[in-house]
Amino acid sequence: MKVSSGLFSVFCLIIIIPSILLIYSMNYDTTGNIGIWFTILVTVIDIVAVVMWIWIYKRILIPLDKLQIATKKIADGDLEYKLDEKDFSEIPFLYHDFERMRIKLKENEEEKRLSDDTARELVSNISHDLKTPLTAIRGYVEGILDGVASSPQKTKDYLNTIYNKTNDMTLLIDELLYYSQVAETHVSYNFAKINVKEFFQEYVKDLYLELETIKIKFVYIENIGSETYIYMNKEQIKRALNNIVSNAVKYMDKENPKIHFRVRESIDAIYIEISDNGRGIDEKDLPHIFDRFYRSDVSRNTKLGGSGIGLSIVKKVIENHDGRVVAKSKSGIGTQISIELKK
Ligand SMILES: Nc1ncnc2c1ncn2[C@@H]1O[C@H](COP(=O)(O)OP(=O)(O)OP(=O)(O)O)[C@@H](O)[C@H]1O
Ligand SMILES: [Mg+2]
Repeated sequence: MKVSSGLFSVFCLIIIIPSILLIYSMNYDTTGNIGIWFTILVTVIDIVAVVMWIWIYKRILIPLDKLQIATKKIADGDLEYKLDEKDFSEIPFLYHDFERMRIKLKENEEEKRLSDDTARELVSNISHDLKTPLTAIRGYVEGILDGVASSPQKTKDYLNTIYNKTNDMTLLIDELLYYSQVAETHVSYNFAKINVKEFFQEYVKDLYLELETIKIKFVYIENIGSETYIYMNKEQIKRALNNIVSNAVKYMDKENPKIHFRVRESIDAIYIEISDNGRGIDEKDLPHIFDRFYRSDVSRNTKLGGSGIGLSIVKKVIENHDGRVVAKSKSGIGTQISIELKK
């Protein structure tokens, strides 16, 4: 039996039983005295019962019904469904406990959604960045097979670079495995104190060879003290640089392709500038190129392929290093991406 029906029956009995007794006693009472007092008593009992019933119905039963509807809604996944606090003035603890439960569930769901999104983003970023070393390895292997690596020294250089690229791939796959095993999607980098000069000299060595193979002139200009150190995650910074350089290569449309790579320092920061003389970026696209999945109309309409992820990875990595990345470009002339990293 429902609570409302049960209570209703109880109140009916409270009203009916004295009323029957009253009628019964009136039939046998000849003086009329008992009848008056008993009538008053029964009337009072009936009025109190009716008032109590109305009060319980409005203040307890209706809110309980509302609570039941809200619980059903929550069970069906509607976590936005709110109760009205006014309806629960007599039983406020129910309202507050329900709201606490609803808010907690909503927070958990939001947390789960965010961590699912981050996991998806992590996997797609790593898959994206695996393409870069793979493409380079294919280029070097083709170079060796086609005889482009004409001298034993050149062949050794190519093989060395292939070896380095497979290391890059292993690190990316390790990262993927790490996050899938620990089921943790908050990316926490291991920072180490890195000698800037040595890092860039090593980085551009491979790059030089890579760009030479595809006939792009590469100029490296460096103005860094031999004792300059910064805290960074080498692998992540390499990922960011690779993405910038691979864009410079991808969007190159000149007969005499050139990429300039400059590194310099000030008292408290180091600056990396990578510029190309490729097709450049339209003014209207420039503010959006670091947004995930953003590709200019020109990029979408060419067969170059891509998903608009590269520069969003750059931004994320640099921001995780408390740095800044900006782009300058002139359509038809070229693009410059500048990074600032604090010492
Ligand atoms: N060096 C560049 N020269 C010309 N356009 C560029 C250059 N770098 C970036 N862009 C423009 O910025 C857009 C976003 O670059 P991003 O690297 O994020 O994506 P993508 O290269 O299109 O695809 P993906 O990197 O995922 O393969 C590109 O589509 C392109 O229009
Ligand atoms: Mg790209």
